[in-house]
Amino acid sequence: MQKQHTAICNSLIDKLRKNTFLSYDEYLFLIKNKDCCAEYLYHNASQVRKSVYSNKIYIRGLIEFTNYCKNNCFYCGIRRDNKNADRYRLSEEEILSCADYGYDLGFRTFVLQGGEDSYYTDEILCRIVSSLKEKHPDCAVTLSLGERSFESYKALKEAGADRYLLRHETADEQHYGMLHPSQMSFKNRIACLNNLKQLGYQVGAGFMVGSPFQTQENLASELMFLKKFNPHMVGIGPFIAHRDTPFHDYPCATAQLTLFMLGLVRLTLPKVLLPATTALGTVDPLGREKGIKAGANVLMPNLSPAAVRKKYMLYDNKICTGDEAAQCIECLKKRITATGCEIEIGRGDYKGERNG
Ligand code: 5AD
Ligand code: FES
Repeated sequence: MQKQHTAICNSLIDKLRKNTFLSYDEYLFLIKNKDCCAEYLYHNASQVRKSVYSNKIYIRGLIEFTNYCKNNCFYCGIRRDNKNADRYRLSEEEILSCADYGYDLGFRTFVLQGGEDSYYTDEILCRIVSSLKEKHPDCAVTLSLGERSFESYKALKEAGADRYLLRHETADEQHYGMLHPSQMSFKNRIACLNNLKQLGYQVGAGFMVGSPFQTQENLASELMFLKKFNPHMVGIGPFIAHRDTPFHDYPCATAQLTLFMLGLVRLTLPKVLLPATTALGTVDPLGREKGIKAGANVLMPNLSPAAVRKKYMLYDNKICTGDEAAQCIECLKKRITATGCEIEIGRGDYKGERNG
């Protein structure tokens, strides 16, 4: 039986690699039988990554500049109602000096990420983005600031932002409702993603693997959604419980399932920019290396000042919170070389036909 399934799965993987899509039922079949074909999937996903990006792994310097958040997502450690979170905001000067430090370490993309914090008005954010671009015109600026208005996204784009990350978290509206309070809406999330695309950003969508109530059917739907939305970047990481959230008792996702989804995403969107996330490195000490071998091609080490790192705790036991950025880079370089890949200096733009 097992052998027969392996043959079917392997031929589905061949078909996916050739056509870059499968039907919902075919994706579901692969997800249900992942244990019999995971190695074959990773082998193919790795080859596809190499054919598009050779052995280059792109690095992005992540600056987590505020952990204030007006939202109350049930899974997230910096949710509004977490009274144990020690809140911080970086000043404009601190953000710019993080970027300068990162520039000297070789970063050419900066990701400004934060909770939804209205302290940072469009005016302040636009000033930060334009100062960054003025100081480092050879760099790309990526924003990850959650849901904002069309006008706000437009102003930030005009100030010089190149890319925007906004994970949709789940492609199933009903499931979305189980992960978020009723004030948040799936429809608005998707509207934001569409607005970002329309404004010419390189857009990153993404979801958590193994979040509470997620089914294998939901995972198959993720691939259908991603194929249709066709983002430039896809952020996927395992759900990891945070002790001070309503989901504190839910089991963490496995690296195994996350890796399988990474492999399927690489074959579905061959040119996509696909990070091996810190969360993946948290559930498995070799998670990021395994992510690369499953098709990922981006790493996002933390450039935030050491003093605030432990405060940006989206989930428990987050790695790299005690290290200086320079130490992380050295560590990552060694890890990446060991996988046969190398870190690429440069903006690391999307390799697809679309510009922007
Ligand atoms: N486990 C894993 N990922 C999480 N995120 C937030 N909370 C958790 C958690 N408990 C992810 C979300 C968000 C990104 C910034 O971090 O997907 O979009
Ligand atoms: Fe802010 Fe979840 S509470 S991202």
